Amino acid sequence: MKQCSLPHGGILINRLVSPEKRLPQKGSRKVITVDRWTLSDIDCIAIGAFSPLTGFLEEADYESVVESMRLQNGTVWSIPVTLAVDERTVRDVGIGDEVLLAGEDGTVYAVLTVNSKYKPDKRREALHVFRTNDLEHPGVKKLFEKPDLYIGGPIDVLKRPIPALFADTYYTPAETREAFKEKGWKTVVGFQTRNPVHRAHEYIQKTALEIVDGLFLNPLMGETKADDVPAVVRMESYQVLLEHYYPRDRVFLASFPAAMRYAGPREAVFHALVRKNYGCTHFIVGRDHAGVGDYYGTYDAQHIFSEFLPGELGIQLLFFEHSFYCKACQGMATGKTCPHDSKQHVKLSGTKVRELLRNGVMPPAEFSRPEVAKVLIRGMAEKNGLKA
Ligand code: ADX
Repeated sequence: MKQCSLPHGGILINRLVSPEKRLPQKGSRKVITVDRWTLSDIDCIAIGAFSPLTGFLEEADYESVVESMRLQNGTVWSIPVTLAVDERTVRDVGIGDEVLLAGEDGTVYAVLTVNSKYKPDKRREALHVFRTNDLEHPGVKKLFEKPDLYIGGPIDVLKRPIPALFADTYYTPAETREAFKEKGWKTVVGFQTRNPVHRAHEYIQKTALEIVDGLFLNPLMGETKADDVPAVVRMESYQVLLEHYYPRDRVFLASFPAAMRYAGPREAVFHALVRKNYGCTHFIVGRDHAGVGDYYGTYDAQHIFSEFLPGELGIQLLFFEHSFYCKACQGMATGKTCPHDSKQHVKLSGTKVRELLRNGVMPPAEFSRPEVAKVLIRGMAEKNGLKA
């Protein structure tokens, strides 16, 4: 078997440049202030996590991605990565201009060469990407909250916009690829997560690890909806879990800087391609991957992969059924491996778990490792301004 997958599109993109060498040459030197979400996209583009993207989508690629999950050149890409701006900004910048992208604190992070200015049909985008245009859907809500026009073009990034907390976990794909090579891992399975880690996560991760050399745990650290567990608590819960329950030499923990889209099936494809860029040969998709509420069927995020030709994505998918602890089996199982009645199964909804944690109640050990539950209870208390 080959060492690591090739990056998506064949080349690992690197848009990081030294600030001295890259000041805007042409145009208005206009500064566009971008939000935290866009900064996380800038980072993912800069380090090549979003390879083959070199910037924000231009109109033709945007249309093609929305319509057919492909860039214009046919490369699979399922999520539009766009820069939304207001009318005044669009009026102020011309095609070919180089504009500065700055964070809300005024720090300039990138230079964008404006190649395209366009008005998206957001309703169409929502229906294709999220399969709904219901404003209750957090991804759709976010889409419609953003300004109405898009500008696109390549970016050169002067400085990675990464938070101070856990900064040392923000590896570049070039670094993770190198680390996998040094460890001698020929096969690596990637795991995406935005939720507090529970026993079902651990079960599918370890089951996958049985057939590959290494496990790449890649919790998402960008923006999520308000009631998700804060990213830093998520990361801390992984650290304690690894300390107590995982073999040190088989696991690599790294932050995934991106924001959560909640686009279910389309986001599963995107998540797989991004982990391929980090050097994974395999990727886990379990139940309702990147889903929210009842918008997607339990296994829609697995079914979508049948829309691509074998080998087209360049990463091997590992699909898992809904996992749970079964009291009769006395272990973790799925409907595929357990013959017992569902009364024997320990299953807790996200809402139920959040309620327990908020009230400082430890979830059952069959659901969550006690070390992890303690971190989560403390994290939730801090989030709510209470003492743990
Ligand atoms: S996600 O939005 O990042 O997908 P989450 O962190 O809950 O949410 O899930 C991470 C991965 O674990 C996804 O692939 C998801 O499908 C899978 N998963 C979560 N819970 C279970 C479960 N009980 N059984 C099987 N797979 C699961």
